[in-house]
Amino acid sequence: MSDFLKMTSGAPEGFFEGLEGKALSPGWAKKKPQMWPEPRSRYVPAVWRYADARAALDQACNFVSPEQAERRNLILVNPIEDNIYPTCRHLVGAYQLVLPGETARSHRHSPNALRLVLDAGSETFTIVNGVKVDVAEGDVVLTPSWHWHGHSNFGDEPAFWLDFLDVPLVQNLESMFFENHPERDESVASHEPDSPLRHKGVDLVAGMRERGTVEIAPEGLKTIGLHAIGLTQGQSHGSERRIDNNIYVVTAGEVRINVENLGALTLERGDVVVVPCWHEYNIEGCSSWSQLVRVTDEPVMKALGFVNVMQS
Ligand SMILES: [Fe+2]
Repeated sequence: MSDFLKMTSGAPEGFFEGLEGKALSPGWAKKKPQMWPEPRSRYVPAVWRYADARAALDQACNFVSPEQAERRNLILVNPIEDNIYPTCRHLVGAYQLVLPGETARSHRHSPNALRLVLDAGSETFTIVNGVKVDVAEGDVVLTPSWHWHGHSNFGDEPAFWLDFLDVPLVQNLESMFFENHPERDESVASHEPDSPLRHKGVDLVAGMRERGTVEIAPEGLKTIGLHAIGLTQGQSHGSERRIDNNIYVVTAGEVRINVENLGALTLERGDVVVVPCWHEYNIEGCSSWSQLVRVTDEPVMKALGFVNVMQS
């Protein structure tokens, strides 16, 4: 006799059908377990290449109009069945291209967001709550929850960046709000090249050269943690299995990654790897100097009091 039959035997005829009609389910005969001994990630480790995304975005310019510039992006969709959006459980990333002369329309949303600038010429900027914030290669620019933001490229070079947002988390929490700016493009009230929302690439490099790892804007976003990590040749960064989800972007040089259930791969500038929770990983510098930015949902886990129980 199967376990299910054992657990359901002895019930009067029609008992379980009756429960179904009342939206009740017997806890002693669950169809699937609802707790398990340690984390199980629905998402898998995966890699995205900047060269692939850049080539596809260049092509997309031929048919995605400047009017749709804010949506001319390529989402890093975790390659599991039936997934159309998240990169991992709580975060999503996307490569975006804004061409010279284009403005991506202003909007605001409850999800927190940030941009990591891969390539940009002069006169590229973001307007956050009316403040014009210049951006340059290697910069990290924060747009916390419910801050208006729009992006312009008034220079001569195409601007490529990576967006990261906590949209999947906000969807799970069912606390989504979104609004387009009533004027399409928010007007500039002031100019702050040194805005606290901007973390300049040059400053991050100086910090990494001095200290190896730099925590970018602690508490800057309540749900997303950011670190800049510098590696000399042969130097390693990694972790045993952990409960948070981590995305790494190479911002300089070349690294060799080795991730449980993915294997060993070499990544170059602009490439991305996602390491969902409970996957051991190691990243080793292959160039004389390489740099990474780590994007993590660790602040969510800490704020909620979840820790690596197995290691505590
Ligand atoms: Fe946005």
